[in-house]
Amino acid sequence: MTPAARVNGLGTTIFTEMTALAVRTGAINLGQGFPDSDGPAEVIDAAVAALRGSENQYAPLPGVPALREAVLEHQRAYYGLEPEDVLVTFGATEAIAAAILGLCDPDDEVVIVEPYYDSYAACIAFAGAQRRTVTLRPPEFALDPDALRAAVTPRTRVLLLNSPHNPTGLVLSRGELGAVAEVCIEHDLICLSDEVYEHLVYEGVHIPPATLPGMAERTLTVSSLGKSFSFTGWKIGWCSGPAELVAAVRTIKQFLTFAGGTPLQHAAAVALRLPGTYLESLRDSLRAKRDQLCAGLAAAGLQPLVPAAAYFVNADVGQDAAQFCATLPERYGVVAIPTSAFYDDKQAAPTLVRFAFCKRERVIAEAAGRLAGLEA
Ligand SMILES: Cc1ncc(COP(=O)(O)O)c(C=O)c1O
Repeated sequence: MTPAARVNGLGTTIFTEMTALAVRTGAINLGQGFPDSDGPAEVIDAAVAALRGSENQYAPLPGVPALREAVLEHQRAYYGLEPEDVLVTFGATEAIAAAILGLCDPDDEVVIVEPYYDSYAACIAFAGAQRRTVTLRPPEFALDPDALRAAVTPRTRVLLLNSPHNPTGLVLSRGELGAVAEVCIEHDLICLSDEVYEHLVYEGVHIPPATLPGMAERTLTVSSLGKSFSFTGWKIGWCSGPAELVAAVRTIKQFLTFAGGTPLQHAAAVALRLPGTYLESLRDSLRAKRDQLCAGLAAAGLQPLVPAAAYFVNADVGQDAAQFCATLPERYGVVAIPTSAFYDDKQAAPTLVRFAFCKRERVIAEAAGRLAGLEA
């Protein structure tokens, strides 16, 4: 089977479908996770200055030095990490794709935690590798260490982890990460850690897996500008970690896209060097939006599961979520996504719906007002 046929077998990405539905019906789009306001003006100014300052040709394959240095500084300042190497990529998505393509042989297994960001399964399919899933179940969405152990076989090469987690908002605790580290070390796994929501944590703290004993040497950490600085359309991402793992990603990346977004890479370096107060205020404002949407959903008779992190709240709608979401735009002018879209096991959370809260307060208020009609 061709990679395209394998990926087609996974179904088309639901975001495209739901965003098209939002455009067609004029509904408020709480489906896809992107903010509806720009990131910091200084960062936009830096991008404009780079565009005007002739930073318009290919960047070096590893990324522009200023951004690579800023990523190293960030890892050191926030987590005390000293990665051996850094590679700039076309969003976290390219880092994940190139990592899986670079590190997995056909028929190797990759363990992922479901529900999962939809590119994971596709990238595993590109590589001809197999995915094995560990299921997070509502309402706690706790990671069961026994289930994790059971998913690992002698063919497992990579554990692809995502904390803070989309779409549940789960933030793995030190204890849970300790169990993850134990499994990785015992089975000599590479940990591919997707940390794009690292700065959007409202309860608890984000602990990068690479900070656990014995993990820095086997962890490739991935993150990006999109969520932390509200520039999802720029697609500037990076990975960092042991030289050998970063080299494997670079080997693939050079023939996927080589290097791009040169002026935006310069601006991303400025973003990462903004004072920490920027990230604190973004976090505070998103926490308030989370609370606003949760209150609106509860008032509409839905049952929100309040997330500790990221952009999304899952609410129990007490009926088949896929059907609920298919008719929601026409009936109430709101687009949302059935959480089952992120699961292989469609019965794990059949009545949950994912709503994004990374929107302006008046948009959330309008959506909540429309949903209030559900009770009628
Ligand atoms: C868990 C997760 N990883 C990666 C990404 C994509 O990151 P980027 O836009 O930097 O490619 C997303 C975007 O929604 C995500 O939710």
